[in-house]
Amino acid sequence: MIVLGIETSCDETATAIVRDDRTILSNVVFTQLDEHRPYGGVVPEIAARSHLEHIDGLVDQAMREANLDFTDLDGVAATGGPGLIGGVLVGMMTAKAIALVHGLPLIAANHLEGHALTARLTDGIEFPYLLLLVSGGHCQLVAVKGPGDYTRYGTTLDDAVGEAFDKTAKVLGLPYPGGPAVEEAALQGDPNRFAFPRPMRGRPGCDFSFSGLKTAVARKVQSVQLEPSLVADVAASFQSAAGDALADRTLNAIHRFRTEEPNGNTLVVAGGVAANAHLRGVLSTLATAEGFRFVAPPPALCTDNAAMIAWVGIERLRLGETDDLSFAPRPRWPLDEERIAS
Ligand code: KG4
Ligand code: ZN
Repeated sequence: MIVLGIETSCDETATAIVRDDRTILSNVVFTQLDEHRPYGGVVPEIAARSHLEHIDGLVDQAMREANLDFTDLDGVAATGGPGLIGGVLVGMMTAKAIALVHGLPLIAANHLEGHALTARLTDGIEFPYLLLLVSGGHCQLVAVKGPGDYTRYGTTLDDAVGEAFDKTAKVLGLPYPGGPAVEEAALQGDPNRFAFPRPMRGRPGCDFSFSGLKTAVARKVQSVQLEPSLVADVAASFQSAAGDALADRTLNAIHRFRTEEPNGNTLVVAGGVAANAHLRGVLSTLATAEGFRFVAPPPALCTDNAAMIAWVGIERLRLGETDDLSFAPRPRWPLDEERIAS
């Protein structure tokens, strides 16, 4: 089974072709970073127009790199949400057109499910597993029991951890996007120089909060003169606090998962922030201490891509699930909810 995937929910226009034996035949990502950089964040209108401009060429490129023809495909999957609606519309319309013209099944993929199932594409892991999903818009702990079968243990009460990275970069004068810039600056820094808060630490449950940490960093930066060594120390201290906060909540989730899913003992981290080496290290140590296997997809498959969307298509086609050409894109689409909106 071979599926074309299309991802357009944020600021990456991506296309990929994946086979059901977990082979990625092509994986093309066009990042719009340069278009959004002057604004210090993603501008939805610019994103939608850029997706529209590039999507046809990128579909073509994915097909050529895989050396395939549309007749070789068994389905076409596109992100149907959640995300910026203009971009999702572009990807869905493209997928619908291809499905209609070539008589292919259509799968409207949940972007979060793409991140959630990536570890099955990269590492072939079995259900159930515990997932820490950390991206620019989401921060969740989820028991993954099957495609479309999720129990959310906790989520952020305010900001996603990726937002905290991006905001920290901004106040430190580091380039956009913030996550990779903070990680790089932190390499030279002292993680113990500033005692930033570890929000929610020690509290029961699996919810997160990052606005207090974000504010503490902004306040600290306001009160000091920014020079390179200080930037590095703030970045390292922030990253260390974020890691501790994630680990504390994940530990509670491991305890809950162990009682509710006795057949599972794998912790998976996914989403853009999972590209961070420090966080991967902290979570890997935690998993090992708890007797869990730790799986983190390669960084290029943690950030937004279309291989994960094609993979959702494969998992759903295996179950005989497809979507109608009338599927309406969904700006909001929680993982632990029925797939088809009313
Ligand atoms: O999953 P993703 O590519 O897009 C969303 O669906 O949100 O995640 C983007 C987020 C951004 O906040 C970005 O700063 C963060 O992931 N990120 C990182 C790193 N690479 C990307 N955060 C920390 N360290 C990184 N190396
Ligand atoms: Zn994402």
